Amino acid sequence: AAENGLDGWLRYASVPCSHQCQSKLPASIVVLNATETSPVFVAGAEIQDGLERIYGSHARISQNQCKTSSSAVVVGTVEQYRKACGSSSDIPELEEDGFWLSTEGQKIRILGSTERGALYGAFEYLSMLAQGNFSTVSYATNPSAPIRWVNQWDNMDGRIERGYGGPSIFFKNGAIVDDLTRVKQYARLLASIRINAVVVNNVNANATLLTPTNLKGLGRIADVFRPYGIKVGISLNFASPKDLGGLNTFDPLDPSVVSWWSNITEQLYQNVPDMAGYLVKANSEGQPGPQEYNRTLAEGANLFAKALQPYGGIVMFRAFVYNQLNESNWKEDRANAAVDFFKELDGEFDENVVVQIKYGPIDFQVREPASPLFANLFNTSTAIELQVTQEYLGQQSHLVYLPPLWKTILDSDLRIEGKPSLVRDVYTGKHFKRKLGGSAAVVNVGTNTTWLGSHLSMSNLYAYGRLAWNPADDAQDMLQDWIRLTFGLDRQVLNTITKMSMQSWPAYEGYSGNLGIQTLTDILYTHYGPNPASQDNNGWGQWTRADHNGIGMDRTVRNGTGFSGQYPDEVAALYENIDTTPDDLLLWFHHVDYTHRLNSGKTVIQHFYDAHYTGAATAQTFPTQWQSLKGKIDDERYNHVLRRLDYQAGHSIIWRDAINTFYYNLSGILDTANRVDHH
Ligand code: GCU
Repeated sequence: AAENGLDGWLRYASVPCSHQCQSKLPASIVVLNATETSPVFVAGAEIQDGLERIYGSHARISQNQCKTSSSAVVVGTVEQYRKACGSSSDIPELEEDGFWLSTEGQKIRILGSTERGALYGAFEYLSMLAQGNFSTVSYATNPSAPIRWVNQWDNMDGRIERGYGGPSIFFKNGAIVDDLTRVKQYARLLASIRINAVVVNNVNANATLLTPTNLKGLGRIADVFRPYGIKVGISLNFASPKDLGGLNTFDPLDPSVVSWWSNITEQLYQNVPDMAGYLVKANSEGQPGPQEYNRTLAEGANLFAKALQPYGGIVMFRAFVYNQLNESNWKEDRANAAVDFFKELDGEFDENVVVQIKYGPIDFQVREPASPLFANLFNTSTAIELQVTQEYLGQQSHLVYLPPLWKTILDSDLRIEGKPSLVRDVYTGKHFKRKLGGSAAVVNVGTNTTWLGSHLSMSNLYAYGRLAWNPADDAQDMLQDWIRLTFGLDRQVLNTITKMSMQSWPAYEGYSGNLGIQTLTDILYTHYGPNPASQDNNGWGQWTRADHNGIGMDRTVRNGTGFSGQYPDEVAALYENIDTTPDDLLLWFHHVDYTHRLNSGKTVIQHFYDAHYTGAATAQTFPTQWQSLKGKIDDERYNHVLRRLDYQAGHSIIWRDAINTFYYNLSGILDTANRVDHH
């Protein structure tokens, strides 16, 4: 296990321990809940295992009775601690799932507001141990939001939509797999980054998940996740009452449909008593939905909300709803769809509905402005949807560390009603003072022993969890914790992987799509490799409107699709005006000639040429940077990563030349540095 990736960042690789370090290792672990399936018990076992593996030190586990001994870790809830150990006056007030960690030499206290919180605290302590950090600390930390979910796009037949790490760990041949060992390993990783729910099946959902046998299977999956403080959620197919239930309708207001769903929900809770809730993709990309019966999306969402309400479940209702469009109409724009569909429904959703919004208005592109929907729902709970699986971002064959991209969205200020309103304060519920809110990420791990398909892409999963807990965390700090936990404490390893990772998103943007024009990949089928021609002349609406003279979507109110007007006034004005639009979003908001001069002083076309050369040149350095680490990383992971980086270096040249030649042929404008093939 040490050599492969199954343990991810929880490898607990051996760290040398000086005399001083020995004196800080606790001799015993006091577990305040002895039930084997309790997160507190799991926390104790995990600490014992970690101490053993990292420092070769054996700590005895004792249960329940509070030790006054000065060499012990005490782990449990604040409540359990109070009962077993008496006073707890030095522990600050905690929020749901928060924890308090206190280390004074060999006396360690890890106390959660819930058992889940205690487990998070245990992993925090282990992360310190694994990084050789024995500092004296005493602090509380609380989650930014209650929803910290991952979505798996697993199909019942075991294939994963946009998954690059092999087949599903959950499903095979239409049923839940027998052996759930990998699910347990996944649970451990997710708990350590404070994820509290997993939606196990594809948003393009299959109604057969709801057959009696599969409901039992879901119960088994939930049993595996539960000790890790993780709940299970499922994606629903809106037409299930008809397709599976044999009704002649799936109209959300039809009484037979209402009772069909409440019945199914009851059966689900019999098998999964703590089910997190439902995820629903409706009236999008061919999926059925309420609009087929002239019902609103809110009426569709509330159907499930009412069924879940008695059990405390929630509905994550996706805002990714759009129609095919006609490019010959200059004013049509898929980016407008989310606000067009959802703004007028604000306030109509039940309290346990959360609208799940992709970070940008189109679809997980290499650069997008924040979805304006975050600024248009004042009375609706929201969550942001991120993507760990690198659908448009190299599909795990390219190293792309994503948090710097996510941060452009999380940290952007929408200036709602002229006041500071960071996107991260909106979806966490802080800005509009809403209880529900948070994050979901499409992860798509598979049975591959690297989980995602590449060792280095695990930094994205790790950092996603960290950001779900605290969206203000620094991209490079999170990365460095992950590097030390995954590859050890060597300085050169740390510096090299930091450098490559921090260079990777700008490099990918450089050789894929610049200035807000989107990823320029094949959008029709694979979403992989260069294919700028595929963006236009179809109804998907990921257009560039490139012709012989110019390029870009005119999204102004004055002359274009009106999209910029979906933002609050100050931001709308910024994007409406070509001079104040940042260069990196210029072509998202404006249609300009190739000779248009950027704020940087370069023309658009020359920027394309240069960025593609610079981006590809950076990717060329990745294999050599990695090779400098030979001997410092086990051969298995070293070689696996090297193969990927070699491939990326080559593929970045293909990207560079395909895109540059395409735009040279279209514009007829020479590269001033004479690099682009002119024939
Ligand atoms: C993208 C992706 C699809 C997915 C969809 C969604 O379009 O390519 O595979 O189903 O997003 O998020 O629903």
